[in-house]
Amino acid sequence: QNCILIGAPMDCGKRRTGCLMGPDAYRTADLAGALRSLGHTVQDRGNVTPAPVDPIPHDRIHKLAETIAWTESLANASEAALRDGFPIFMGGDHAVALGTVLGATRHAAAAGKPLFVLWLDAHTDYHTPQTSGSGNLHGTPMGYLAGLPGFDGFPVVDYPVPHDNICMLGLRSVDPEERAALQDTDVTYIDMRAIDEHGIAGPLSAFLDKVHAAGGHLHVSLDVDFLDPSVAPAVGTTVPGGATVREAHLVMEMLHDSGLMTSLDLVELNPFLDDRGRTAQLMVELTASALGRRIFDRPTRAFS
Ligand code: ARG
Ligand code: MN
Ligand code: MN
Ligand code: MN
Repeated sequence: QNCILIGAPMDCGKRRTGCLMGPDAYRTADLAGALRSLGHTVQDRGNVTPAPVDPIPHDRIHKLAETIAWTESLANASEAALRDGFPIFMGGDHAVALGTVLGATRHAAAAGKPLFVLWLDAHTDYHTPQTSGSGNLHGTPMGYLAGLPGFDGFPVVDYPVPHDNICMLGLRSVDPEERAALQDTDVTYIDMRAIDEHGIAGPLSAFLDKVHAAGGHLHVSLDVDFLDPSVAPAVGTTVPGGATVREAHLVMEMLHDSGLMTSLDLVELNPFLDDRGRTAQLMVELTASALGRRIFDRPTRAFS
């Protein structure tokens, strides 16, 4: 594949800073080299820079104007990169998904394909600026992309992702407003309890069957806090009880076997909180699994 690396040093989706160092950490951990060793071509397009804005303070929402500017720039970068290859967005906090997935919705619509989103996260990030108690916009991208109202000033989502096309995996921190809003939808939400009871492969497999049957594009958004903090400490919003290293690799390996993934976000890495680069390193290893690294060769997935 033609892998296109895009840095998104966005840090305005929450109060604690540090995610702006994410792209540099991925480059230092040699994400490009890991992908090249698998036979891919890799093009690093450098970092996206948003249009400069006058910061207009908002009474509740943190850095609203900056986040809107990033969303516009990232949507354009995402749409353009999807025309040329397989984009990997190196965040940045999870607010990068406001833009990267918006670009993916436009690309899919232009191609006449439905877009599916796999959200690998401890959190559902299904707030709107109205329901968010924290005022942190990294908690809102799924709400925005699903077409919830209340995102005044943001680019209009012309092609919202249908609820039926969304799968959230790894959940263990869901706010009451998010739970109430999600329960009336067809979103597939898989919490850690379900993973403990049934394993991670079953629900993912069912979702991939759905993507395949619809001939869809698939955007994958990997939040560092999907992983258990004991193996991935470099994130501001740690929640105990997350995915193990093997569960995460299995997800990535199954994504590769499916041949369905069309774009990928790596978000919420805060290198300032890391322990000798181990979280950045693990994220690079997981990305390599998603792009074909194997312990032994296996056949690609057969769909029925
Ligand atoms: N639900 C909480 C909030 O709205 C936490 C969101 C965490 N999101 C994330 N991308 N880490 O503030
Ligand atoms: Mn395409
Ligand atoms: Mn998140
Ligand atoms: Mn999260």
